[in-house]
Amino acid sequence: MGSADHQRAHLTSRPKLPSRTDVPSDARVLVLLAHPALHRSRVNGPLARAARAVPGVTVHDLYESYPDHDVDVPHEQALLLAHDVVVLQHPFYWYSTPSLVKEWIDQVLLFGWAYGPNGNALMGKTWIHAFSTGGPAEAYGPEGHNRFTLRQLLAPLEQTAKLCGMRFLPPFAIHGSLRLDTAAIAEAASRYQALLTALREGLRPRDDSHERTEVVTHWEAP
Ligand SMILES: Cc1cc2nc3c(=O)[nH]c(=O)nc-3n(C[C@H](O)[C@H](O)[C@H](O)COP(=O)(O)O)c2cc1C
Repeated sequence: MGSADHQRAHLTSRPKLPSRTDVPSDARVLVLLAHPALHRSRVNGPLARAARAVPGVTVHDLYESYPDHDVDVPHEQALLLAHDVVVLQHPFYWYSTPSLVKEWIDQVLLFGWAYGPNGNALMGKTWIHAFSTGGPAEAYGPEGHNRFTLRQLLAPLEQTAKLCGMRFLPPFAIHGSLRLDTAAIAEAASRYQALLTALREGLRPRDDSHERTEVVTHWEAP
């Protein structure tokens, strides 16, 4: 996708131009990459490489950093404090994240720091998931094989963000990833770069439609 294509914006369920908000422009974006076997990945590997190419985006590989799941809590908290937007990038595993993300949440988002009395370290920051699913888009919904929408399945993570005073944006999803060919993966990586660029520029949906939006597949800077 060329830069001209980055000039348009739409969300899948409610196409709207984004607008500037209280998210700072030149927002500092942290991608927490969580894939237990990145060397075998078809989708998240190319997406991570695409993310690393976006200026001002920090990509932090959790499985590379913590192969024993022994998370360096002060380091992770310092990274969070140094960024405005947290992107959790991962394959969708058992209707959720790979297990290290849960470990990371349990260890890093501490009472009195991320929530609870004086626990306001993350207040006002943004949380968004970017993930690939094996299942096709139509599998996720009341009529689909998986019965629930992706947004519904992310409810515990959405509430985790909310409890920490963070803004939770609808997930960016690459569906049916097992069947994507090289060109489709490259196109997805380009859309991911556009999302990260938009987040860098402090953009989000124009109104609170993101509260209801299920999934973002295209999100481009104006
Ligand atoms: C342990 C495991 C659990 C999975 N659970 C789901 C799932 O709940 N829903 C789904 O759509 N795909 C599921 N998949 C498929 C992965 O989401 C898919 O393989 C991945 O997104 C492909 O990305 P990659 O090429 O970066 O590995 C699962 C795969 C594995 C290995």
